[in-house]
Amino acid sequence: MMNATIPVQGLRVAALAADAPKLRLGLPASGDGAQIHALVGRCPPLDLNSPYAYLLLCHHFADTCVVARRGERVVGFISAYCPPGNPAVVFVWQVAVDAAERGQSLGNAMLAELLARPVLAQVDTLETTVTPSNLASRRMFLNFAAAQQAGVAEQSLFAASDFGAAAHEEEILLRIEGLRAAANLSCPSPRAAIRGE
Ligand SMILES: CC(C)(COP(=O)(O)OP(=O)(O)OC[C@H]1O[C@@H](n2cnc3c(N)ncnc32)[C@H](O)[C@@H]1OP(=O)(O)O)[C@@H](O)C(=O)NCCC(=O)NCCS
Repeated sequence: MMNATIPVQGLRVAALAADAPKLRLGLPASGDGAQIHALVGRCPPLDLNSPYAYLLLCHHFADTCVVARRGERVVGFISAYCPPGNPAVVFVWQVAVDAAERGQSLGNAMLAELLARPVLAQVDTLETTVTPSNLASRRMFLNFAAAQQAGVAEQSLFAASDFGAAAHEEEILLRIEGLRAAANLSCPSPRAAIRGE
């Protein structure tokens, strides 16, 4: 299956040197686990899971996870999976973009790359959760939905009290529905193409 990484056309990151290696998106491998763990650690407010958890994601869920590399450096990551028994839904767990790469639609491009994979051909709904204070995350998902001409429904999934003693905001479920109806799930998103070289 899709072991090779693909270059991302149309994305430009002005803050980087002109000779910076191109961004490439692809499936993560176990060798990426440590870098993914470090990246998520640099991306608050994401909950940092154990290195072993990221290794398992790379090993068992590579088909539904995305890594973005600039040269040898991991600068973006999505963890996702199809909920058991529901191949029409992909649940996006964490999205992390290195601070130096933000605001250039890399998050959006990784979502598009994920949904374009043949292994997710049956998926017509993307689910994720956002916390009320994470406006960048919300905008990224709403931009993705708009680019795919997909509808968005939302409802509370986990209350703050569900996290017990840990201080944690409510998690609101976003359902981006009808992805295959009008979608052109190509990579990059139209906005990235506009911004790109
Ligand atoms: C959320 C995140 C993945 C977005 O990555 P990205 O590559 O910058 O995403 P995009 O460029 O596709 O979209 C980001 C959108 O958020 C907006 N945004 C960025 N910071 C913002 C802020 N503080 N308040 C409101 N909107 C903000 C951007 O302007 C952009 O929207 P626009 O294109 O309509 O202007 C990245 O900011 C990140 O890694 N954050 C830390 C981890 C996190 O919160 N992950 C998401 C939870 S799973």
